[in-house]
Amino acid sequence: MKPPRPTLFDFHGVPMTHIFTDDWENIEHFQARPDDILIATYPKAGTTWVSYILDLLYFSQTRPDRQTSVPIYERVPFLENKKPNHPSGTDLANGLDTSPRLIKTHLPVQLIPKSFWEHKCRVVYVARNAKDNAVSYFHFNRMDSVQPEPGDWNSFLQNYMEGQMAFGSWFDHVTGWWERKQTHPKLHYMLFEDMVEDTGREIDKLCSFLGLTSTAAEKEQIRHQSQFDNMKKDDMANYSSAIVMDFKISPFMRKGKVGDWKNHFTVAQNEQFDVEYHKKMNNTTLHFRTEV
Ligand code: PPS
Repeated sequence: MKPPRPTLFDFHGVPMTHIFTDDWENIEHFQARPDDILIATYPKAGTTWVSYILDLLYFSQTRPDRQTSVPIYERVPFLENKKPNHPSGTDLANGLDTSPRLIKTHLPVQLIPKSFWEHKCRVVYVARNAKDNAVSYFHFNRMDSVQPEPGDWNSFLQNYMEGQMAFGSWFDHVTGWWERKQTHPKLHYMLFEDMVEDTGREIDKLCSFLGLTSTAAEKEQIRHQSQFDNMKKDDMANYSSAIVMDFKISPFMRKGKVGDWKNHFTVAQNEQFDVEYHKKMNNTTLHFRTEV
């Protein structure tokens, strides 16, 4: 018999599931180092893609063994993750022998452990347009047994608009981090759509932000290696070893496109979504593209 799916509960004002809060004592007191790089995203915004690129930028020359033998979720630990019978994200992060350490989080900005701010760590935030993000999250919740039951697409979408998702509201997440960018100069805010449009350009911007002097040939190799079809084939990047995921339902590397929302939203759902979107986003300077 399949174990029951987790349910959401309120955690400091944010809907969460227990696997992301059970280790809270260690998360809250996590000791960041000044050269740590935090990769922050709302779930399904392109975390794995950007993690993979950063890992290659830093370590493809010096630690090529890591890319062929260590899954991405261990090379770039997921800070708040604590699944039964798995090492916690904080343990994995504390066990990293790399410098810098690359650390993934989906936490909204107000829940980030304070030592990342105290040490003025660099943060790479990736955001994805709300519609494609919803579609990707829906398929993920179908296949990942430690995520809440998604229900059908329509009920999932209603919950998504209301922010009833693990890690809360997409709207609050992307705008909360956008506001923090105005006061934290070491925050690089990226868009999934820009990555799809021109990955090489976005790798250049990442290098400038990080102060990296990778050669043009190295960057081109990384651009090529990080294309969707190549990452999908890479067993160290495609989550094929994650036992909680059922790829027969939906693969982790699903489509990797901008605009797949058009295959999911009905006309009525799209109209309703646009109305909600404008209400919630009319006070921000943050803009997304839903096609490229
Ligand atoms: S997670 O579980 O939150 O860490 O997921 P995350 O990695 O943030 O998002 C998964 C989606 O990103 C797509 N993806 C890519 N798209 C384009 N190119 C590359 N290289 C790439 N790698 C991952 C992945 O397919 C998921 O999106 P969907 O729309 O579901 O395909």
